[in-house]
Amino acid sequence: RERVRARGGITGLWRGDITTLHVDVIVNAANRALAGGGGVDGAIQKAAGPELLAATLKIPEIRPAVRCPVGEAILTQGFKLPASHVAHAVGPVWRSGENGEPELLASAYRASLDLAAGVVAESIAFPAISTGAYGYPQWEAAQVAVQTCEAWRLANDPDMRILLVAFDDKTVKLLRSALSRFALR
Ligand code: APR
Repeated sequence: RERVRARGGITGLWRGDITTLHVDVIVNAANRALAGGGGVDGAIQKAAGPELLAATLKIPEIRPAVRCPVGEAILTQGFKLPASHVAHAVGPVWRSGENGEPELLASAYRASLDLAAGVVAESIAFPAISTGAYGYPQWEAAQVAVQTCEAWRLANDPDMRILLVAFDDKTVKLLRSALSRFALR
């Protein structure tokens, strides 16, 4: 941990399938209905088993087909996952970038971190929220992810182990570059 911190914070990059991680909380890139989907959501549903979807569908709708507004997150157990909990975060759909997308994406990261702190988690892993089906430009999203996680960590829990998970080569490259620019010391 000291060695990692000396390199600039303990927000780190991990490459691979988020569903395999033995951390306290993994974050799902969910939709407002918390109704399951493809991408990382599909992978998490498959690995966690059907109890996960059953748990999110039990959450009351606040409006038709909305259980969690954009920029917020809700927590469930991890069921069959190695992770204890899943924070289902809803990132923005990218439209032009002028509809509050950066603030909504940052808010989805912060909401997940707050939920993790609420269950006294020591570690949390994020996929690249909004950068798949939701079309958020990947470099802009990588910068929001690193800056938001590092600001939260410094203000709230300097020891929280935060992993940004890259599932493909391009995300590895972009996150590495954002981490080297923006990771706090
Ligand atoms: N582990 C880690 N990352 C993954 C995995 C995995 N197993 N599978 C996919 N990813 C990566 C994708 O490569 C992408 O970089 O997750 C990132 C987010 O992509 P999406 O899953 O498409 O998420 P998002 O853009 O936020 O769209 C959310 O898609 O699946 C639906 O229900 C979900 O409606 C919601 C929407």
